[in-house]
Order: sequence, then structure tokens, then C-alpha cells
Amino acid sequence: MKDKILVTGGTGYIGSHTTVELQQAGYDVVIIDNLSNSNREVLDGIEAITGRRPAFVEGDCTDIETLRRLFKEHPGIKGIINFAASKAVGESVHKPLLYYRNNLDTLINLLELMPEAGVKGIVFSSSCTVYGEPDVNPIDETAPIKKATSPYGNTKQISEEIIMDYVASGAPIKSIILRYFNPIGAHPSALIGELPVGVPQNLVPYLTQTAAGIREQLTVFGNDYNTPDGSCIRDYIDVNDLARAHVTAMSRMLDNADTDPVEIFNLGTGRGVSVLELIEAFESATGVKVPYKIGARREGDIEKIWAQPTKANEVLGWTAEVPLTETMRNAWNWQQKLGK
Ligand code: NAD
Ligand code: UFG
Repeated sequence: MKDKILVTGGTGYIGSHTTVELQQAGYDVVIIDNLSNSNREVLDGIEAITGRRPAFVEGDCTDIETLRRLFKEHPGIKGIINFAASKAVGESVHKPLLYYRNNLDTLINLLELMPEAGVKGIVFSSSCTVYGEPDVNPIDETAPIKKATSPYGNTKQISEEIIMDYVASGAPIKSIILRYFNPIGAHPSALIGELPVGVPQNLVPYLTQTAAGIREQLTVFGNDYNTPDGSCIRDYIDVNDLARAHVTAMSRMLDNADTDPVEIFNLGTGRGVSVLELIEAFESATGVKVPYKIGARREGDIEKIWAQPTKANEVLGWTAEVPLTETMRNAWNWQQKLGK
């Protein structure tokens, strides 16, 4: 058995897939989640895939006493992956304090307890949103950080700074900051995936719900951008590939004494895909037609962004592998499992 890892937000979308990969790589996982955006049944899915049920604490990471108790009851945790956060960009504009409190208190509590609990490192979920609208694509980790366009995005920028300041102060910890591009898809078993709450704001859950007949029509937000087909471009990364990157990052952080105390990696495929291309990929992968119309641009949307993932490829030894068609099939299988 390898090290014991605390996964905060581990019943969530990316956390559940990462827990599967950690357990399959031999790590012992303890999850803490307050179930504000997930449910307990996710644990059944993880157990069905891996044959092991991770230890689970229902609790809120903004409560430092809950975390202190967790570290006492689960001694020997060596690493943390911090997924626990609120993540709806639009909601964060209307409820900024909720976002600042939830996302920042969670991180600060974990950092504060790490030395006394003997935890060596923390992997942090950041986002390509820190780059804003890039001056050049593909974008690498040295690109400038632009002013955040939402309180959610700002929590990611501030969190990165908090980690860097804390490590620079001499705190006896290490950190790997992972800037995700656009995570999509589900586990190939269709036993875990993304749980939509209300009307999806993101492209893929809206698309699969439209294909399933839950939504009448998908709206493509603008076809007059400065891109080959006029629709926006993103770097869509399969959630299973993303999950595997966390395992690689954890092992690098805990098992190598000579790595820098803070490292930052872009996690993307290196390939830009437009909204129209993504619809086409879904249709050809599944044989299911998606009714769509062209609508107005969405306020605040980035025109085009995709990753330069060379650093992750070379330094982490990780590369995104799952073809987009397979990701689309997994997303569709998961949608069908969820039903209407
Ligand atoms: P998610 O909402 O599915 O998972 C987050 C989990 O954290 C949920 O299960 C939720 O119940 C839990 N949680 C929230 N606040 C908590 C708290 N205070 N204490 C305990 N549990 C708490 O989201 P996700 O898509 O899996 O995202 C995981 C992380 O990755 C987040 O930090 C998110 O900001 C970041 N991220 C996500 C994306 C994306 O597109 N999904 C992109 C970039 C970065
Ligand atoms: N889109 C549509 N129609 C829809 C939904 C989305 O055309 O119904 C388009 C958007 O305009 C955009 C693309 O699909 O061009 C992707 O949109 P998403 O909302 O799926 O993703 P974003 O890139 O806008 O943002 C997501 C997360 C952010 C995160 C960012 C980078 O919502 O939290 O990825 O990780 F910061």
C-alpha cells in the first residue's frame, strides 16, 4: 500500500475520478466532502469500479475543528488533493462572499494544519481561467495572469498566491498547482460522472441533455468570433486523463526530495476544439443528432484558449491520451445512465 491521501471534495466530479485512479495506483484514500454538490452514492460507484470503498468523512473544510479531528482519526496522511470548492462562475458574481469564504477558508485551514498533521504536500485545483483571454495560443505556464473576470476566478488566483506565500515563508510543505483546461466526460464504466444541478451552464452536459431530449435545443454562443468556424475554441480534456495527472503529481511531490517546493502545470491536450467541432465529434461518436441553433455571444466568454502542455508532458511524464470520440461516448453513456 502506498501513502494515505486526503481528497477534499472527493465525491465531486473530478475528485471521484481521481479517487478511482489513486486507489487503482495503490494509494489509500480518505475523502472529506460536505455533499453540497455531490452525494453519497458516488462512493458506491467508486467501490464498484475499484473494489474498495474509500474512507469517507461528511464534513465542511471551512470548519478547522472538523479537519483537526479528521487528521487525528486518520493518522498518517501524507498528501492532500484539494478539490473542495464552489465552482459556478455565474453564481460567484451574485454571491461573492460565499465563494471567497468557501474556497479560501478551505485552503487556509488545510495549509495551517498540514505541518502539525505531518502532511508533506498539497495538490491544488486551479484553472486556465487565471490566464483570461490569452495573447497567444497555445498558452504555457509563464504567460501573464490577467485580472480575474469573476469572484470564482479570483479565488483561484488568490489561492495560488496564498500557497506561494506560505511556502516562501518557510512552511515545511510542498505544493503542485494544476491549471485545468476544460474537463469533460465520465468514467468508461458509466458508474461515476458529472452530476448536473439544474440547467447546465457548461457545454457538454447541456449537449448530452439535449441529445437525450431533456433540453429542446443547444444554443451555440456566437459564430462571429475570430476563429476558423466562428465559434469559440477550448481545450477539452478527458476527466480520466485529468484524474491520472493527479496521481502522477502526487507521486512526484511525495517521492522526490529534490523537486521545487511549488510547481505549476497546465493540464490540457494541446489541441483547440471549437464548439461546432465538439458537436460534430459528439454526433459522429454516438450517431445521435444534436439539435442546435446559433445564438448571441455569452457575456465574458473567452474567444480561444488552448494549452501548451509540454511542461506536464516532460516534467510530470503525463500526456492526455483519451481520444475525443471516446470521451464523447463516455459522456453519452453517463447521460443515458442518469436518464431523464
Ligand atoms: P464539484 O462541485 O463536482 O466537486 C467539488 C466537491 O467539493 C463537491 O462534491 C462539493 O460537495 C465539495 N465541497 C464544496 N465545498 C466544500 C467544503 N467547504 N467542504 C467539503 N466539501 C466541499 O466540482 P469539480 O468539477 O469536481 O471541481 C473540483 C475542483 O476543480 C474545484 O476546485 C474546481 O474549482 C476546480 N476546477 C474545475 C473545473 C471544471 O470545469 N470542472 C475547471 C477548473 C478547475
Ligand atoms: N457554450 C455554448 N453553449 C452552451 C454552453 C457553452 O456555446 O450552452 C460554449 C461557450 O460559449 C464556450 C464553450 O462552449 O465557448 C465552453 O463553455 P463552458 O461553459 O463549458 O466552459 P468555459 O470554458 O466557459 O468555462 C469552464 C468552467 C470555468 C473554468 C473554465 C476553465 O465553467 O469554471 O472552464 O477551466 F474556469
